Amino acid sequence: MSKEALIEALNKDLANEYQAIVMYTTYSAAVKGSARLQLVDFFQSEIPDEQGHAQYLADKIVALGGVPTTTPAPVPSAETPREMLERVLEAEKKAVEGYSARSEQAKEAGELGLAIQLEDMIVDETGHYEETKKLLDEWS
Ligand SMILES: [Fe+2]
Ligand SMILES: [Fe+2]
Repeated sequence: MSKEALIEALNKDLANEYQAIVMYTTYSAAVKGSARLQLVDFFQSEIPDEQGHAQYLADKIVALGGVPTTTPAPVPSAETPREMLERVLEAEKKAVEGYSARSEQAKEAGELGLAIQLEDMIVDETGHYEETKKLLDEWS
């Protein structure tokens, strides 16, 4: 993969991180009913990780000679708490898959520091995925 293609892929990842920040912020504001007691803190607790990922990606894109996107990927709409958790689960799964592919591409491009950092982000996103899955599995 060329450096340009790697920068382009990292910019898609960055747009997805901004999406995650907007998604967690919006869902935590919008969630209603008794689930609100659980989910406000759950959604908001994910935001610092995603902000850290976005900052890392933006810094790396500039270091590679690119221009970081400022536009989040669109946030899927969700009405009920279950729908919100389902959308979150999909997004976190996509993040794990994306960073798994990106880490391999970074290795191929000789960017070992980036590859290792992306592996660390896979750990974070896997944690987000698993916590969401546990909530959703027993959701009534
Ligand atoms: Fe993230
Ligand atoms: Fe995440």
